[in-house]
Amino acid sequence: MTDPSLGAYNIFDLRLQAMRRVPKGLFEFVDRGTEDEVSLRNNRAAFDRIKFKPRTLVDVSGRNQDITLFGNSHKMPIAIAPTGIAGLLWHEGEIALARAAREAGIPFTLATGSMTGMERVAEEAGGELWFQLYMWPDRSMSHKLVERARNAGYKALVVTVDGVVSGNREYNLRNGFTIPFSFTRRNVTDVLLHPRWMFGTLARYVLTTGMPRYENYPSEIKYKVTARPMGRSQMRNDSLNWDDLKVLREMWPHKLIVKGIVHPQDALQSIECGADAVVVSNHGGRNLDGSMAPLEALPDVVGAVNKRIPVMVDSGFRRGSDVVKALALGADCVLIGRSTLYGVAAAGHAGATRALQIFREEIDRVMALNGCRSIAGVGPQLLHIAEGPLARRAAMARPDLRLTETGKVAGS
Ligand SMILES: Cc1cc2nc3c(=O)[nH]c(=O)nc-3n(C[C@H](O)[C@H](O)[C@H](O)COP(=O)(O)O)c2cc1C
Repeated sequence: MTDPSLGAYNIFDLRLQAMRRVPKGLFEFVDRGTEDEVSLRNNRAAFDRIKFKPRTLVDVSGRNQDITLFGNSHKMPIAIAPTGIAGLLWHEGEIALARAAREAGIPFTLATGSMTGMERVAEEAGGELWFQLYMWPDRSMSHKLVERARNAGYKALVVTVDGVVSGNREYNLRNGFTIPFSFTRRNVTDVLLHPRWMFGTLARYVLTTGMPRYENYPSEIKYKVTARPMGRSQMRNDSLNWDDLKVLREMWPHKLIVKGIVHPQDALQSIECGADAVVVSNHGGRNLDGSMAPLEALPDVVGAVNKRIPVMVDSGFRRGSDVVKALALGADCVLIGRSTLYGVAAAGHAGATRALQIFREEIDRVMALNGCRSIAGVGPQLLHIAEGPLARRAAMARPDLRLTETGKVAGS
């Protein structure tokens, strides 16, 4: 019997396994950021600047990490972020990931640019499904996609607003990594050096449905997409604006989530346009290099939104302690991107399941060691934030944090 731990004791172990299994061009597309990767590093460093100030001798037996979001109960305070790539890492990886999410009792977001069609994911995985939308320059094509998502039973539309042009991912150019695949001596060698991926993923597509392609794209463009370096899609829309959001609000009958907010004013404007939630995100450091970490932006957004709608956050979450820190700063839910992708790349459904299990165990342990029985008990009183801008903003956004005379923040 296979060891259910897969020999991975944390997300970084899964990352290493992923790195060994998939070609370098594909791995770097998942793993890296943009330009000098300042955002990518800072997203992780922001967690280290926040420390816990635990309480003890609290009975934490029978604890659970359930949350309620939009009136629905979920088994963990996390959801799967949209990443249009799981299906390249593993044959039909989107279905594997969505199933793992359903089994873990959390929502799954399918990306516009996924390799498996939205109807198949809905039929074969089930669970609470959200659909992520990139608006194309031809709005009517995007609106048709929204109709499809509604007919397929998706419960939320996640509109991504932080990628109006593609991030500058120079490694994709160096690696010759494009969709559809283009063949150079360099990337063919890369594929040949990774036979587990070549036979287990690429060959399975070629022998069944053909080369992987963007299955949600309308047929008029699906078969015409010329090879472009990943992330340099010709389909982005740099005229996207608030009026587009208002139109989507009128069209979409279910929950509308705006993903890619950093500035509190944009969160407020999202509410004005009828959004049901915002995701504070810098796209995992994949678009604008040098943008502040979502964790640093979170207190201001939470303060501005003032509980009118849920505030979610993503970018850089690899540990249960990261999740608990964000919840303590006022997030209602955390979106997970690369962590579960590493799991899918390493071992498909089993790998995604393992990644979620790691988060569950780590969140549980961090809650217990902080004296928390439920997510309701996770608040700013758990945190000791060293001096600095985050401390000041957290103090202003959260009246239940106080600023000491030396400029440090203490929970009440
Ligand atoms: C390989 C990859 C592909 C992504 N594709 C999309 C996408 O199609 N749409 C989108 O809104 N976000 C996309 N994202 C961003 C994620 O939704 C999320 O914001 C980010 O991954 C969070 O950071 P993390 O990976 O550090 O958890 C992608 C991220 C990765 C790593």
